[in-house]
Amino acid sequence: MAIPFFQNFFKPKGQSVLGIDIGSSSIKIVQLRKKGGKAVLETYGELALGPYAGTEIGRATNLPNEKIIEALNDLIKEANVTTKSAGISISTGSSLLSFIRMPDMDQKQLATMIPIEARKYIPVPITEVTLDWWIIPKEENTFSDFEKTGAPDNLPKEKSIDILLVVIHNDVLNHLNTIGAGVGLNTSFYEIEIFSSMRSVVDQNLESVMIFDMGAGSTELYVIERGILRASHTVNRGSQEITLALSRSLGFSVADAEHIKRTIGISPEQDNKNVREIITLNLDYIFSETARVMSAYERKYNKNISKIILTGGGSLLKGLLDLARTRFQTEVVLGDPFSKTTAPAFLEPVLRIAGPEFAVAIGIALRKLQEEE
Ligand SMILES: Nc1ncnc2c1ncn2[C@@H]1O[C@H](COP(=O)(O)OP(=O)(O)OP(=O)(O)O)[C@@H](O)[C@H]1O
Ligand SMILES: [Mg+2]
Repeated sequence: MAIPFFQNFFKPKGQSVLGIDIGSSSIKIVQLRKKGGKAVLETYGELALGPYAGTEIGRATNLPNEKIIEALNDLIKEANVTTKSAGISISTGSSLLSFIRMPDMDQKQLATMIPIEARKYIPVPITEVTLDWWIIPKEENTFSDFEKTGAPDNLPKEKSIDILLVVIHNDVLNHLNTIGAGVGLNTSFYEIEIFSSMRSVVDQNLESVMIFDMGAGSTELYVIERGILRASHTVNRGSQEITLALSRSLGFSVADAEHIKRTIGISPEQDNKNVREIITLNLDYIFSETARVMSAYERKYNKNISKIILTGGGSLLKGLLDLARTRFQTEVVLGDPFSKTTAPAFLEPVLRIAGPEFAVAIGIALRKLQEEE
């Protein structure tokens, strides 16, 4: 699926940039260009990796670099991409996100202490990984705490700082380098996918929200508070499991099961009771894990998660949004990352539907645009 458009009408100044999301089941790309302070959508596309691995569309794959290069080249051609200037996402599965607490110290000390602390979390030699970290800002709003606990106003600040630690194995970066070079791209950064999605689907506000990213092999859950990642959890079940369960239990071929899932899903038109039951059973499992993660967070920090934002191809399942709305007390919405871009009005309905799948690719392209400024 690729829709190039306005190649000839739009000739805005500024460089076009490409956001690339190499998922386990498909590659997603988005090309943007800045015009009048806006991110203009130039082209986007998606390509299933299954066929490159000799398996069905929608299945998670584990392809060697050459195959990924081949697929990415095909997609770039199909979508009429016109730029080499790119950023690529790193999947959550190939990184390690930890939330650690350290004694309060200055930046310089932290730079020495964090790698030492990080060793506890990393099963490989520290020389084989790349580290990054963010200090999680302390609550500014101490007033409500004061009210709640009745504690005196002049209590010393907490003597510790919370840190988000990010660890990426150097092999992962080397693979991405090889892929970028193999396609002839000018790749200036790699970013773990959640930070891309945060940019494209979360509005910076004070509330705690959850991103629910349902991919092929797994569903990733993240809690974001005041624009900062506060928790992350992987549910080892994704949309592929629904297809396989339909095939296994009802005797459909995997390709037919995938088709049934994608076309009707559990929308009201689904008149096969068994199909409905199997899909719902799988979603129930993922939703109850989600509810568990939410309440653990809410208890720990004494905060409410005010919204669940659905992303990933699995969230496109017809009827999933409605089911989620009946299962959670919280507001549930589909991620709409294209709303951060400017596109021809006639495309808007299509983009809204495809949106959840492109959250990562758009987030990458938006960062790349900022870099161009
Ligand atoms: N319209 C649709 N309806 C239902 N399911 C869909 C639809 N489109 C895609 N999917 C499912 O979504 C999954 C792919 O989602 P996505 O593209 O987000 O995963 P990925 O990024 O490749 O994988 P991961 O993030 O796990 O590495 C597949 O299992 C596919 O069957
Ligand atoms: Mg993905």
